Amino acid sequence: MSFNPLEEKGTPIEKQYRDWRNLNPIPYDKTTVHPYTRARIILMNGIETEAAIFLHQFNRHCDDMEVKKVIAESRRIEQQQQKAVNYQIPADETLLEVTIGYEQVAVDLTAWLAQNEKDENVKQALDFALLEDFDHLYRYADLMDLECGIKAERVVQEYTEITPGRPTAAHHRHPQDEIRKHINKDDADIQTKLNILTIVAGEQQTMNFYMNNGNRHGSNLGRGLYMEIGQVEEQHVSHYESLNDPNMSWYEMLLMHEYTECWLYYSMYKEEVDEVLKKLWEQHLYMEIGHLNHAVKLLKEKEGKEAKDMLPKALPSIFKFQSNKEYIRKILEEQIHLTTQDQGYVSVKDLDENSRFRTFNKKVNNIWVPSNEVIKDYIFRNGMDYRFELEGENPIKELQDRTTVIETLAIK
Ligand SMILES: [Fe+2]
Ligand SMILES: [Fe+2]
Ligand SMILES: [Fe+2]
Ligand SMILES: [Fe+2]
Repeated sequence: MSFNPLEEKGTPIEKQYRDWRNLNPIPYDKTTVHPYTRARIILMNGIETEAAIFLHQFNRHCDDMEVKKVIAESRRIEQQQQKAVNYQIPADETLLEVTIGYEQVAVDLTAWLAQNEKDENVKQALDFALLEDFDHLYRYADLMDLECGIKAERVVQEYTEITPGRPTAAHHRHPQDEIRKHINKDDADIQTKLNILTIVAGEQQTMNFYMNNGNRHGSNLGRGLYMEIGQVEEQHVSHYESLNDPNMSWYEMLLMHEYTECWLYYSMYKEEVDEVLKKLWEQHLYMEIGHLNHAVKLLKEKEGKEAKDMLPKALPSIFKFQSNKEYIRKILEEQIHLTTQDQGYVSVKDLDENSRFRTFNKKVNNIWVPSNEVIKDYIFRNGMDYRFELEGENPIKELQDRTTVIETLAIK
C-alpha cells in the first residue's frame, strides 16, 4: 500500500513534547534483541543526530526570527527523539559489542542502498566503502575475542559474515582523493537523494561514536584500532557528503531531511519485530510528518516553491535491514583492489611508488598499524584469526590463509 506523508496530518508540534520518564525507556535485553532491531536503533540514532546538527547549522546561518523559532521547536523534538532511540541501548552492552553493531549497520545498510541505487556514481561510492566497513567488522571482532573472549557472531548472528574485506591498512587515502562528483538536485531520483542522506547520517554517527568513545577502550592496541578506523570514518563522511548537490537551499535541505526521516521511520515501523519498538517508530513517524508539514510551509513562504514538485506521490519502497552475504562477496571479488584518485577510482596495482595514495598511505602506516597488529596478536595467541564465514572461504585467494596477516594486499 502506498503512503504519502504529504497527505497525512501528523502530530502537531505542540503535542510532541515528552516528559523525562517517557524519554528514558527500559533498554532492550542484549541477549535476546534481534540484530536488526539493534541496527534500526543505531541507524535512527544517527538520523536524529544529523537532524539536530543540521538544524543547529540552519539556525547559525539564518537571520529570520520567524524561521528560527519554527526550527527551534523541531530541533528540540529531534533531540528528544534521539534520546528516546539511543537510550534503548543497555549499559551492559559493552563498547565493543555496540561497535560490532555499528559496523553491522554500516555493512547491511550500505549493501541494501547499493542494490537500490540507479545512479552509477552513487552506487560505486557505496560499493567502494562497503568493503571497508566490512573489514572494520572483522578487525573489531578479532579485538573483542582477543581481549574479552566474546565472539562477535553472538552480536551479528547468521545475517552478516565476518572475514577480511579490503584491508583497513589500505583505506588510508589522501584527503584530496575523498571528494566525489555530486548529483544534480533537479534531475536526481528521489531514491538517490534518500540513499545519500541516509548513508551520510549513518557514517557521521559512526565517526562521532569513534571520535568520542575510542579513548574509552582499555588497551593501547584497542585505542589504536578505534583511532585508525575513526579516521577512515572521517573519510567515509567526506566521500558520501560530497555526493549531495551543494546548490540546494536551506529550505530544500530541510524538506529533504524531514522527508528522509519519514521514509526511514515508515520503513522501521513496517519491518520491526519488537512490539515496543514498533510503537516507537510509529510515534516518531507521525512526529516527522508534523515536521515535514512545517518544512513544506516554509519552502512555500520563503522561496515560493511547492514541495510536491520535489517529492513523489508516494514514499518509495521501504528500506530493509536484511542479509547481503552473496552481494558482499561479489563486490569483494570485483573491487578489493580499488582506491580513489581525485573524484574517481583506480586499481592500486596501477599506481606507482610516488603516487599520492602510496605516499600518504606509507606516511600514516609508518611503524605501527593497529588494524594489522590486532590480527597478528590474535594469530599469535590462537594459531589462526577469528572469522565467522557462513558461505565458504573468503572469496579472495590471498585472504584465505588464516595464519598470516597479508599486510600489503591492496597496498602493493
Ligand atoms: Fe527526527
Ligand atoms: Fe566502519
Ligand atoms: Fe564507514
Ligand atoms: Fe524531523
